[in-house]
Amino acid sequence: MIPKAEIHCHLEGSIPPKLAVELAERNGLILPPNLFDEKGHYAWKDFWSFLDSYDRVCTALKKARDFRDVIYSYLAGAAREGAVYVEMFCSPERPAALGISYTSWLEALAQGIDDARREFGIVGRIIIICIRHLGPERAEAMVRAMLAEPHPYVVGFGMGGDEAKFAPVDFAPAYRLAHDNGYGCTVHAGEVVGPESVWAAIRDLPVTRIGHGVRSADDPALMEELARRGVVLEVCPGSNVALGLYPDRASHPLHRLIAAGVRVTLNSDDPPFFHTTLGAEYDLAGLDEGQLAAIARTTIEASFADEATRRQLLERISP
Ligand code: ADE
Ligand code: ZN
Repeated sequence: MIPKAEIHCHLEGSIPPKLAVELAERNGLILPPNLFDEKGHYAWKDFWSFLDSYDRVCTALKKARDFRDVIYSYLAGAAREGAVYVEMFCSPERPAALGISYTSWLEALAQGIDDARREFGIVGRIIIICIRHLGPERAEAMVRAMLAEPHPYVVGFGMGGDEAKFAPVDFAPAYRLAHDNGYGCTVHAGEVVGPESVWAAIRDLPVTRIGHGVRSADDPALMEELARRGVVLEVCPGSNVALGLYPDRASHPLHRLIAAGVRVTLNSDDPPFFHTTLGAEYDLAGLDEGQLAAIARTTIEASFADEATRRQLLERISP
């Protein structure tokens, strides 16, 4: 099995329908109607209804332990597919809404990470992620909370949500604060909005990675700039095809980005929503073993884990 690594996967977006049902039952909660389609898959039809569906699956969560179980279950499955490292996007907005403190939430996540490490050898880390459409004030408050209670597994800061809302520059104070305090930074851009969104992100935010960024392929000058700066794209082809950005994998720009010299990684984003897994992304990328091994190495190099951890992981995947 080719060793794999992943740096773009959303915590609640990794919950398979079966686990959502189990968690809801355990918590005595009733899941919202129409969460699933007739086949038992998550029901959504476009990017915005996907974001809505994402919010609705979160209603299965109630206790800190639920977050432990979600990250543990994802890491266990990824390890079975050959993953040695996963960086998970985790939003403190969800636990806060449930009255779970930031510390108890992180302790629960760390427990899941430690259990998965002990049982499967996989290394997990956390990126704290703000939600773009909730605005810059919430983002800055989130960074302040992250700085007030540092945790060794929290290695970075990022932003997801509705890319059409606000502009990267609005979030510059939050990002500056995270970056100046040593956190690696990434941002979703160039997914539902075109290259101008990626230009703005690399101009206004201290990011070394872009979440998705695939729409950069529409602009040769942007691809050249990304290659020149060594900016890494967290590419999620299955997600992009499922959300209708491209009609199929054959028209996805992954290969064009690689040909232009852009550093890319392969990721699953919200795997059960998009009927994919990290293993499927590697299998369906249309790349040979050498190229896939190079992608796994780029993923570790671009990760926000400390240098010693990155060195150990690189030795593990290419001894
Ligand atoms: N949150 C979860 N998945 C996302 C995606 N693909 N784009 C933006 N925000 C997200
Ligand atoms: Zn994402």
